[in-house]
Amino acid sequence: MKIIGPDYLVFGVDDVDACVQYLTDYGLKPRDVDEAGGYLEALDGTGILIRRRDDPRLPAAMETASTLRETVYGVADEATLQAIEAELSKDRSVTRGEDGVLRTVDDLGFALGFQISCRRPLDLPGEISNAPGARASRPLNSLGASEEMPALPRSLSHVVYFVPDHARGEAFYARLGFVCTDRFIDVGPFLRPAGTEDHHTLFLIQTPPFMKGIEHFTFHMGGPTEVMLAGTRFVEKGYESFWGPGRHQLGSNWFWYFNSPMGCHVEYDADMDLHDDSWTARTAPPGADSSQYFLFHYQEKWAPGGPPPKH
Ligand SMILES: [Fe+2]
Repeated sequence: MKIIGPDYLVFGVDDVDACVQYLTDYGLKPRDVDEAGGYLEALDGTGILIRRRDDPRLPAAMETASTLRETVYGVADEATLQAIEAELSKDRSVTRGEDGVLRTVDDLGFALGFQISCRRPLDLPGEISNAPGARASRPLNSLGASEEMPALPRSLSHVVYFVPDHARGEAFYARLGFVCTDRFIDVGPFLRPAGTEDHHTLFLIQTPPFMKGIEHFTFHMGGPTEVMLAGTRFVEKGYESFWGPGRHQLGSNWFWYFNSPMGCHVEYDADMDLHDDSWTARTAPPGADSSQYFLFHYQEKWAPGGPPPKH
């Protein structure tokens, strides 16, 4: 089953305008958005669908306060859709909507959809750097950073769920071909479906049942400079940094997390490790020392000659 990763996430929210503004400022482009919400997309067409909490078009809400209403995965081909339908029809209802999306609910109560992926192929350079000893990579007279660099989200990377039973969740997603790339002991697995090499497109975190829902989602950026630029611009617009910038250990992805009006965290990430089936999953104890190699803290811009920098 060639599941690539989440194509889009669906939220039912209290304040549509605040969420649309937030995601626009984050860097997504509104498409078909009106006062009832709509779709905001990254450069490759993956995105976030915002609707009012009581919108009848939404799948049912979970029994918790989570605003996540559906995770819609992109798959490579019709054969994968049929394989998913055949596997999950064994023990649950699976429907195919007019929008072509195959819909069901996982063993933990998360609404899922599957569609032929909406991802448009991207032809963009990744961040390149010059280093002594390495062949010159960034061309002469080409700037590594500038105020004009767009630093826009490229592609929906991963979603993280708070779950009441991570083993049950892992067993369900294994039926769809997700494998564990790494694991935090007694917390949960990082899961990679068969249609991608990304370290994870889904991470499960064990929590008490009342917390069940989405913890965060993130879009891939072009590199660490774009994470820093986009995050700095987001802070300067007034949004609240939650964690970062820094670099994770499992997955090696650069990260910067922010609070959001969807009630979950929203991340920028870049340069995640890629894996294939020759990789052996690592295990690590949860905690600060195993969650990042380093962690920075945003400070207001400063220059020598000015008043002492604020801490
Ligand atoms: Fe993340």
